[in-house]
Amino acid sequence: MKNNFTVLNFVNDELVFINQAKLPLIEEYITTDNVDRIAEAIERLEIRGAPAIGVAAAYALALSLKNNVDEKIFNSSYERLKTTRPTAVNLFWALNEIKSTYDKYKDDKNVYEKLIKRAVEIHNEDIRKCDAMAENGLIIFKKHSRVLTHCNAGALATSGNGTALNVIKKGFDEGLVDFVYVDETRPLFQGSRLTAFELDKAGIPFSIITDSTAAFLMQQKKIDLAVVGADRIASNGDSANKIGTYSVAVNCFYHNIPFYIAAPTTTIDKNCKSGEEIKIELRGKQEITHFKSEQITNENYDVYSPAFDVTPAKLITSIITDLSVYYPPYNF
Ligand code: MRU
Repeated sequence: MKNNFTVLNFVNDELVFINQAKLPLIEEYITTDNVDRIAEAIERLEIRGAPAIGVAAAYALALSLKNNVDEKIFNSSYERLKTTRPTAVNLFWALNEIKSTYDKYKDDKNVYEKLIKRAVEIHNEDIRKCDAMAENGLIIFKKHSRVLTHCNAGALATSGNGTALNVIKKGFDEGLVDFVYVDETRPLFQGSRLTAFELDKAGIPFSIITDSTAAFLMQQKKIDLAVVGADRIASNGDSANKIGTYSVAVNCFYHNIPFYIAAPTTTIDKNCKSGEEIKIELRGKQEITHFKSEQITNENYDVYSPAFDVTPAKLITSIITDLSVYYPPYNF
């Protein structure tokens, strides 16, 4: 199913992106060629989701040479973009792809064009991988599946049609998925704002639930399977995804419900042996002490806010990628 919104696009040497911090109430597009602005957009989750972060960072690093081919500017842009978010491996993978292209062509007078060409390839590959994942993922559904998902692993999280949510959309298109339960996904509501936005646009029936409602629905036998995305998958299959994903997996295990991860191969970090090596981003306290700009608790209370958690491989029924569907024991 084609989306009627564009997440990321490269037009006339500028990056155009939808501002996800304002969705679903405001559909605002931002156009920029400024590396710092793109870095800030990633930090503020205006651009978010592992594959989308990677593609945006690739364009940003290439754009650092648009007006001036200067190695110092390139290196400082590389370092700046690397600090934006620590968990999604796609960011580092994409930046390193652009950096190796730079190292190869730095003496070529068309080095900027070479970098943009590589960024466009990364973008196109992401689009292709999303659709390959959806095809591969179809085997997880039986007829009339009622599916739970957490966070947003849809088109908004990629530069294509999405990962886990694209698998669900494909299942719906094939007549296999009846209904989707959408965890609201605290603290930034990627489920209730973004996944709901996409399901609504696609005409797929859904209910938003609070994160703590999922176990209750499983107990009532209203969920047949769960499928979520990932930000980094270790070589043993341990998978980092939005905070709360581990609880979903534990609840699925207890209720004997299959739990799937869908992610492109660019999310697999072969250098990372297990989940213990995955760096987990900590978010600022204001996202918890405030609701939008309204303060809801005492500002001097302590807050602990990890953005991601790690689901151990043994809780994952299978990992769906663009190449294949993998089953335990995982060995990437
Ligand atoms: O903090 P976010 O919104 O960038 O977190 C995103 C997720 O956890 C997604 O599930 C993950 O990146 C997979 S997206 C295809």
